[in-house]
Amino acid sequence: MWRYAEVLPLLNKKNIITLGEGWTPLLELNRLTTQLDLQNLLIKDESQNPTGSFKARGLSMAISKAKELGLRDCIVPTAGNAGGAMAAYCARAGMNATVVMPRHTPKAFQGECQYFGATLILVDGLINDCAKKVAELNKEGNYFDLSTMKEPYRLEGKKTLGYEIAEQLNWKLPDVILYPTGGGTGLIGMWKAFNEMIEAGWIANKLPRFIAVQSENCQPVVQAFNSKNASNYESTIANGLAVPFPFAHRLIQRVLHETDGWAIAVSESEIIQGVKELAATEGMLVSPEGGALLPALKKLLAVGEIRKDEQILLLNTGSGYKYLENLN
Ligand SMILES: Cc1ncc(COP(=O)(O)O)c(C=O)c1O
Repeated sequence: MWRYAEVLPLLNKKNIITLGEGWTPLLELNRLTTQLDLQNLLIKDESQNPTGSFKARGLSMAISKAKELGLRDCIVPTAGNAGGAMAAYCARAGMNATVVMPRHTPKAFQGECQYFGATLILVDGLINDCAKKVAELNKEGNYFDLSTMKEPYRLEGKKTLGYEIAEQLNWKLPDVILYPTGGGTGLIGMWKAFNEMIEAGWIANKLPRFIAVQSENCQPVVQAFNSKNASNYESTIANGLAVPFPFAHRLIQRVLHETDGWAIAVSESEIIQGVKELAATEGMLVSPEGGALLPALKKLLAVGEIRKDEQILLLNTGSGYKYLENLN
């Protein structure tokens, strides 16, 4: 990821804290392409990042910047993956990590934080309840609060996803990108990167249509897109999607509308089926968040929102291994 250091907000490269994040494979899903009668179905496989998710990009950037700024104590409310990534990069930087996570998060997410030496605090509820706990713990302002979109650096790290996709596709963007949306950093990060590259004259002035995929159990982005009141905030097996009140909700809607995109929710059983199908057909054990993209794609093909002749990119955000206890 640090091949893009010139467009990242770090002043001195000696402050880079890296575990080898980024430059993940962009693969053709050949068997699914045939089965679904498509022309070009791609997956960007972020499961291959350190700590098994795309959160590594944002946290490598943010913890590097924290080091540059001389900060020592970091705190984050998390649905799981961001906490593990923050704990790992803090360990690598010799900094202190406090991670606040829902109690129902699978054990692998809790265990990795503890192995990385973080202080782990479990909360009854979802990520918004964890955020309240973080606000309470940080009343005196003693911590660097890495809450999604409340500091600028994680987004900058996530932005490298957009640079990478463009470079891996020889500077020609796909027609449509399906993204499993929680707080929206990946979505907004790619959009920001594409706009920066258009401004720099690197790519044509045509953005992919962004499609936000959520779980029916917690779908505030889909409800806002359809001008419905948000309701029904339950946990989901795709724990990264259980974000009842995304801080950047206006920006998320702007990305969807500006790119002529869409928002769609799928059920828990469809998510699990998606994970199983990707595993059995393509040999990839993706996270449930990534698994949600496959049923969403099928629905959008069925209603003609995505055409079969388009270049379609699924953004698999994480590895399924940490979720195995719930994936039966
Ligand atoms: C695997 C995975 N996918 C997607 C998301 C959602 O990411 P964002 O909050 O950046 O939209 C998360 C967040 O926790 C995640 O862990």
